Amino acid sequence: MTRTIKIFDTTLRDGEQCPGASLNVEEKIEIARQLKKLNVDIIEAGFAIASPGDFESVKTIAKQIKGPVICSLARARKEDIETAFEAVKFSDNPRIHTFIATSPIHMEKKLRMTPDQVINQAIDMVKLAKKLCPDIEFSPEDAGRSEPEFLYKIIAAVIDAGALTINIPDTVGYTTPWEFGRLIENVIKNVPAIKEKNVVISVHCHNDLGLAVANSLAAVLAGANQVECTINGIGERAGNASLEEIVMAIKTRKDFFNCNTAIKTDEIYKSSRLVSNLTGLLVQPNKAIVGANAFAHEAGIHQAGVLRARETYEIMSPQDIGLTESKLVLGKHSGRHAFADKLKDMGYSLTEENLEKAFQKFKNLADKKKDIGERDIEIIIAEEVYIAPETYAIESISIKSGTTIKPSAEVKLLYKNKTIAEKAEGSGPVDAVYKAIDKIIKIQPKLVDYTIQAITGGTDAQGEVTVRIGKNDRVFVGHGTDTDIIIASAKAYLSAINRLFILQP
Ligand code: KIV
Ligand code: ZN
Repeated sequence: MTRTIKIFDTTLRDGEQCPGASLNVEEKIEIARQLKKLNVDIIEAGFAIASPGDFESVKTIAKQIKGPVICSLARARKEDIETAFEAVKFSDNPRIHTFIATSPIHMEKKLRMTPDQVINQAIDMVKLAKKLCPDIEFSPEDAGRSEPEFLYKIIAAVIDAGALTINIPDTVGYTTPWEFGRLIENVIKNVPAIKEKNVVISVHCHNDLGLAVANSLAAVLAGANQVECTINGIGERAGNASLEEIVMAIKTRKDFFNCNTAIKTDEIYKSSRLVSNLTGLLVQPNKAIVGANAFAHEAGIHQAGVLRARETYEIMSPQDIGLTESKLVLGKHSGRHAFADKLKDMGYSLTEENLEKAFQKFKNLADKKKDIGERDIEIIIAEEVYIAPETYAIESISIKSGTTIKPSAEVKLLYKNKTIAEKAEGSGPVDAVYKAIDKIIKIQPKLVDYTIQAITGGTDAQGEVTVRIGKNDRVFVGHGTDTDIIIASAKAYLSAINRLFILQP
């Protein structure tokens, strides 16, 4: 019989843990809405005890997103578990996911606990969680480097205490597919309660050796029936297993895996874009499934083959992941009604206020750019509707630049309804603009990263700039688009600064 593998999405928890990915509550809800459309089985909405912001997002997602299981992570500690429950209890399907490390190095050096103490704490905390919530998941952290016999023992004990899902994490991305598959097989063989009580075996793989997806798939073959993963594979260090790669491997090679998932694969591309836009983490062009080149055929011989029969070089169709050609959709003369209809077609449902904001942005863009495609509209929504509230806003920017003069900029920003103006020179026009902004905001964040890419083809394409700025050991991401790349650069810098002021007022 074909097994259905549950997809547990941890973009909002493990994914959000990667440097610079921090999302605000509204952005997390937007991603959770899209995850629901994607039809994931479980959304790990956050780590409720980590901060008031995390708690608020898990709670709001539990209140607003109905259908998927909504889960919060909790260390095996009383306060963590109680806080997790306070946040997820608003869901119709709440889950508490508790964990404790089980590898010798973690127990000895990090926890400073003996293996017996670890087992006892795991049992006590699963029992406590079970009193609050019927659906409990337990993870032996760093399972990939744990002693197998110890793993069997702790897994049997927490199942006895009430855990319904056992997640086996390869926390540091150390194992290989052969070892990880064998580990899953052995866990199932050596803990009879798994079969007796129909316990779900889940896997959670990190990508330090680039093996996260391969390890997850090896585990599926070995009997795992839940996979934890993130959109675009974002996550700690080298990231987590990528949802889209796992799902499309299972779908495309159904002949081999003989299982399926409930994922609506035609929502994959949109999910990938949304996560990339809101986190500022760009997708590498050659990324499997969702990279810009994933369905591009450059070599003449390939193009000729694809024209004759798509299957010569394409093992999946772009439509499978919801990638339609960025059609020309609207132009300068399109009205509010046509714009609203197009948004509806593309699956967006905006409030009246956000629709108005988006429409104004569309009109401004249409003055500068002749053809507006779906990708431009996606950017308008991501950039103008879901951005952090603005502490500083651009009033005007003018620059002088060229081969014979020192680049300089005059920037006027609106701050609390007042205009503040400053001038600066720089090594280039972007540097001059950033220096003038620094004078106005009176701090000098470190520019950690600056990238620019064209959104669509043509010389009137919008430039999309992503910056990361650092302050007090934290990284803030900003995102800006415009047909003028200096303005796009200023918008990106200022949006990172606005985040900085919101998160560190
Ligand atoms: O990588 C890991 O071990 C985790 C656990 C908390 C599941 O993220
Ligand atoms: Zn993890």
